[in-house]
Amino acid sequence: HNHAFPPVWASAIPEVPDGARRHDVANKQLADWVVRIALLTRPDEVVWCDGSDEEWNRLTTEMTDAGSLVRLDPGVHPDSFLARSDPDDVARMEDRTFICSRSEADAGPTNNWRDPADMHTELNALFAESMRGRTMYVVPYSMGPVGGAISQVGVQITDSPYAVISLSIMTRMGDDALAVIGPDTDWVAGVHSVGYPLRDRDGLRRDDVPWPSNPVKYVSHFPEERAIWSFGSGYGGNALLPKKCFALRIASVMARDEGWLAEHMLLLKLTSPAGRAFHIAAAFPSACGKTNLAMLRPTIPGWDVETIGDDIAWLRPGDDGRLHAINPEAGFFGVAPGTSVQNNPVAIDTMRKHTIFTNVALTEDGEVWWEGKTDEPPAHLIDWRGQYWTPASGTPAAHPNARFTAPIEQCRTLADDWYEADGVPIDAIVFGGRRASNVPLVVDTGDWEHGVFVGATVSSERTAAQEGRVGELRRDPFGMLPFVGYDMGDYWQHWLDVGAALGSGAPKIFQVNWFRQDEEGAFLWPGFGENSRVLAWIAGRVSGEAEAVDTAIGEVPAPGSLDVTGLGLGATVLQSLLDVDPVAWLEECDRTEEFFARFGDRVPGRLRDELARLRERLAGA
Ligand code: PEP
Ligand code: MN
Ligand code: NA
Repeated sequence: HNHAFPPVWASAIPEVPDGARRHDVANKQLADWVVRIALLTRPDEVVWCDGSDEEWNRLTTEMTDAGSLVRLDPGVHPDSFLARSDPDDVARMEDRTFICSRSEADAGPTNNWRDPADMHTELNALFAESMRGRTMYVVPYSMGPVGGAISQVGVQITDSPYAVISLSIMTRMGDDALAVIGPDTDWVAGVHSVGYPLRDRDGLRRDDVPWPSNPVKYVSHFPEERAIWSFGSGYGGNALLPKKCFALRIASVMARDEGWLAEHMLLLKLTSPAGRAFHIAAAFPSACGKTNLAMLRPTIPGWDVETIGDDIAWLRPGDDGRLHAINPEAGFFGVAPGTSVQNNPVAIDTMRKHTIFTNVALTEDGEVWWEGKTDEPPAHLIDWRGQYWTPASGTPAAHPNARFTAPIEQCRTLADDWYEADGVPIDAIVFGGRRASNVPLVVDTGDWEHGVFVGATVSSERTAAQEGRVGELRRDPFGMLPFVGYDMGDYWQHWLDVGAALGSGAPKIFQVNWFRQDEEGAFLWPGFGENSRVLAWIAGRVSGEAEAVDTAIGEVPAPGSLDVTGLGLGATVLQSLLDVDPVAWLEECDRTEEFFARFGDRVPGRLRDELARLRERLAGA
């Protein structure tokens, strides 16, 4: 059985599956590619997706009839659905994620590398006939406003209708996007299959199931080809290729080549009581509160926060010498557990209708539930595995990485700036992570190079969004550890280069930590809406109005400059929140040096200088 692309000299040239050929597609390579993938994967039919409401209704109805979706109570959640994944297909898999650059060194030590030719051979064998008995969907999409200067287009082929309906929320998907792919337009190719025929752990073939996935999984990126091939998983970041695969891994390579930045950042607009607007981009590792920060309701009077994005930002130096950012996505793929009316009413409201819930629990009234949604769990539920559940069950009712997929336009705090095709000018960049100790509530890093050093050395406690032991500390530079599509050291150099090109137009860089704890393990800072106090201080640093005091690691709020009125924080608590312990930080420096050693001579000299200077300051502290 020959699994490679059908060779042109094959005696019997197979018939092209119905619907694959389209003569009205302006881009010849795109038209040919769709036929080629259909010949490889042998679907029963090929459907070009148009992004219409009719298409959404048809697919969700088909999936509900097939048992892949549960329709929620339309009185509570109109036009909304629950999907339950295979229990082995619940998160991104970093160990099955590959960067297949021509040179191994270009992938760097943080990525799994495979030779592109070898990987293509292996993938061709897996994809051969993988869509038999299924429909192959062709999904054109735009990342960013269709036709916008910072936007990019791509096309995903998939045999997962769950991926199609998710993409209709997460991207500008369909005819409008296809229309801007002209004869010479560059587009990113994505090929995705859940991997039929399905096999169980013993390699035995089994029938189709509500959530098809395959024990063999690959999420492979070909940066020089601008192509992504993903096999075996139906889950979010593995299956929605425009998101992490394109908008971060492939786009980071495009950005390196073209002088811009593709980042794991939320975008928000902060407006002061005086009416001045500040645009802030903030990078955090997965499941560290980007969605909550992007939708924050300020607790301090007169301040307003509006949402632009919660996960990905593309930032480009503009003609005005400043860094301009767009959110390339069109929806949220947010972590549901922990989200409540109390701590994020905007998110709860956003997911009221036209939302796909994945791996949450179901109440007997056709409503959804997850840990943290209410203080008291319902007396009984159907859990994320479809099993009867009570609070005595001793297992989580929702998977800790359960998600909601909802259109950004349903967000009531959406900023008008979201529509800006040329992006918003960025005033401040914020780096954060989960740290029980050492990292203060907020630090002004002082200048771009020190800011890049801070971004490069961020560490965070592992969350349910990553496989591995939750709580373990891992270095996660710029929140991009799993998402930089090339060598991490080169990525740091690229950040230094972008800053040098921006010069005085560069945004200020800050570090934050909402998660510092006392000796008993209690959080020192209330977080959520109270984080507006920190944003206000950051805005004050940008406008020159907020006072700071120097520490060895940067500038922290001067006494009285961070508004904590009404919080009832004792003076010692505030002190602990801002404390810099030189002994602990010198140990962090040793860890940083070990971390840098992984990257050898690709660590920019400027960052080694920053480390040396930090040690000197700590030694003198
Ligand atoms: C994912 O896990 O697939 C994802 C897109 O989200 P996160 O940024 O939380 O990893
Ligand atoms: Mn993310
Ligand atoms: Na994840």
